[in-house]
Amino acid sequence: NKRISTSIAQVPLASFIFNASGPRCTEEDELNLLGASASAAIMTKSCTLKPREGNAEPRYQALPLGSIQSMGLPNLGYQAYLEMLPRLKQAISPQTNKPIVVSVSGFSITDNVVMVKAFQASCADLIEVNFSCPNIEGKPQVGYDFEQTERALEQLCQLGSKPIGLKLPPYFDFSHFITMANIIKKFPVSFITCINSVGNTLVIDPETESAIIKPKGGFGGLCGDYIKPIGLANVRAFSQLLPSSIDIIGVGGIKTGTDAFEYLLAGASAVQVATCFEKEGVECFDRIAKELDSIMVAKQYSSIAAAKGKLKMI
Ligand code: DOR
Repeated sequence: NKRISTSIAQVPLASFIFNASGPRCTEEDELNLLGASASAAIMTKSCTLKPREGNAEPRYQALPLGSIQSMGLPNLGYQAYLEMLPRLKQAISPQTNKPIVVSVSGFSITDNVVMVKAFQASCADLIEVNFSCPNIEGKPQVGYDFEQTERALEQLCQLGSKPIGLKLPPYFDFSHFITMANIIKKFPVSFITCINSVGNTLVIDPETESAIIKPKGGFGGLCGDYIKPIGLANVRAFSQLLPSSIDIIGVGGIKTGTDAFEYLLAGASAVQVATCFEKEGVECFDRIAKELDSIMVAKQYSSIAAAKGKLKMI
């Protein structure tokens, strides 16, 4: 479908919508389901050097308008994904040529260098480096530490020619948008993904007088509808501060074609879906794509480029 096809870092995507790193993308069978679905890409769960069980349960709770979670990066370890990639690639139909995006989330610059180097030599199409996991005790979100972000990019951007992107935390002040944009502009970053969950929020059950997740004293990442205005603002701010050659992927509260269209107006080149995918399963990708396509038809936009960043001011 030409109306909603797009590209990230010049890698073509058949649709505007794919899965966010997070739900249902840790195990090989889950990634194969994504391969066979209408998701525009196969995005993997953020990996670490070693396999991880993640945080104690309960660590995910659905909420009326989204979810709160403190998963703690449960994943198979980067080597398992390295070995899995050729099999995933093999299973993808040559007609669709669906790209694979790997997410890496090391606990240090050295960890990230080891993993990015390995994936640079793999059949992954894009590499998303996660600078924004809020759920590991004692490990602050890299994206909130501008000096560390810069030191990390100095090393990570010279390890190969596959496009590198950054998964960023939400920012809430223009000084932070500007500082981060100026750092990104110094390096060959090909795309950014905005936003990770809104970190360290607290949901209380007044009935039981208790937090609703166990890890970190109940603090966890807020996701879903609650955070859409924050995601939209981050996409918009960075689309105004960065050159158009750097693609922006929107995430946060996308569960309908309308949500995807709003991110498109804000300047997104594609969007990722997390909470809605967790709740609905792979059917969400085809549904949201069809809904977006209907909006494009009704509004007489013939391509993603025609509507991208076209937000009006009043
Ligand atoms: O909200 C998040 N949860 N963001 C991440 O980057 C990782 C994930 C987790 O596994 O805790």
